[in-house]
Amino acid sequence: MQKLIIKGKKKLSGKISISGSKNATLPILAASILATNVKVKNIPLVKDIFTMIELLKFIGLKTKLNKKKNFIEIYNKDKNINTLAPYKLVKTMRAGVLVLGSLLGKYKKAKVSLPGGCAIGTRPVDLHLFALKKLGAKIKIKDGYILAEAKNGLKGTKIKFPSISVGATENALIAAVNARGTTILKNCAIEPEIKDLISFLEKMGAKISLIGRTILIKESKIKTSKINHEVIFDRIELGTYMIAGALLAKKNLIIDKIDTKIIKSEINILKKIGVKITQKKKSVIIKKCKRLKKINIITKPFPGFPTDLQAQLMVLLTQADGISKIKEDIFENRFMHVPELKRMGAHIIIKDKTALIKGPTKLTGAEVMATDLRASVSLVLAGMIAENRTIINRIYHLDRGYEFLESKLKNCKAQIKRV
Ligand code: UD1
Repeated sequence: MQKLIIKGKKKLSGKISISGSKNATLPILAASILATNVKVKNIPLVKDIFTMIELLKFIGLKTKLNKKKNFIEIYNKDKNINTLAPYKLVKTMRAGVLVLGSLLGKYKKAKVSLPGGCAIGTRPVDLHLFALKKLGAKIKIKDGYILAEAKNGLKGTKIKFPSISVGATENALIAAVNARGTTILKNCAIEPEIKDLISFLEKMGAKISLIGRTILIKESKIKTSKINHEVIFDRIELGTYMIAGALLAKKNLIIDKIDTKIIKSEINILKKIGVKITQKKKSVIIKKCKRLKKINIITKPFPGFPTDLQAQLMVLLTQADGISKIKEDIFENRFMHVPELKRMGAHIIIKDKTALIKGPTKLTGAEVMATDLRASVSLVLAGMIAENRTIINRIYHLDRGYEFLESKLKNCKAQIKRV
């Protein structure tokens, strides 16, 4: 099994370019089932995207991936379509469940494996099914599969989600594009990745408006002409490297290929902690930081602080003065990086949903275990500020979501290698 070996305390300098967003690409690829021919640019070459491509191929779509230029062309000729998402593909990547909305809307039936829980929590799909049932689907669960059918097609209606879910909003939105009449989705997730999905669906001919947390989808005709779309940048990857810069910039660390409008609240939080950031329209410069201040944060749906940056922020706060608090309000089990950080010398106590982080603390290298995607990258950050050598096991988690992590960091003088 592969490991990462990091020699800590190496200062960072140079430039990192941010990849396309994994979490925007996944629903867009799932929604491409609705179209005839799409070209999706700026896709990150990471494991979850390869798995989604495998799923599209299994369903019967033709795909042409250009790895050099990070784009994919997808063709749906409506021939030999298999309305099935098998367990072997959905179990490794929960976003596989997003093909449910496309298949059901377009082909009126789908059999999709239940994704099951994962390391960060139980992660049910009840909200996805709640919305699809309201749209008229008949749904049964049998042998670990969701069996969904809408013999007469889906029908637009008013749906209010009892709580906010990114995936359920995406599934309902994609399904509603093929519904008769108008659908009104209330209490939706409004992450930038969802806005990107809306812009992709609009290019396909869908009529969608977003007002606050309400999404209105009017009955529309899907175009058969070719659609071109460029995926937005990965704001979580950006947040991760901004934190790396805050911890280790020699003088300046430049991060580009971004849009600072989308990450205003994260930038404000980092500034409150004392991180020195110069913003341009399409890049940020992180300057060497002298003193970091404690902060109290609660993870929330967008525009709140993202749960996907919680673990990385915690590493930053091990270097801040005083006791910081992070409350994890989205997932019930997302502090798995804490025992590993403590093995490296961090002072962290967990009380219910809140982690109390005492800093500043010197971290020392250790052999640690990656448990999920974001926890893994927090261990990379910890290894980069720790004394001596850190060995990170089970790094396949990292490969699910960070494109060219080692080379991006090595180019900025980090000492990191895969063995
Ligand atoms: C997406 C992101 C993930 C991010 C998360 C929250 C993708 C591929 N993944 O995951 O990186 O951490 O948003 O920003 O975009 N829930 C239910 N029932 C449901 C669905 C969700 O109870 O049917 C709960 C979840 O267990 C969780 C909360 O709602 O506690 C939010 O989850 P959700 O927004 O759905 O996350 P994902 O879409 O799975």
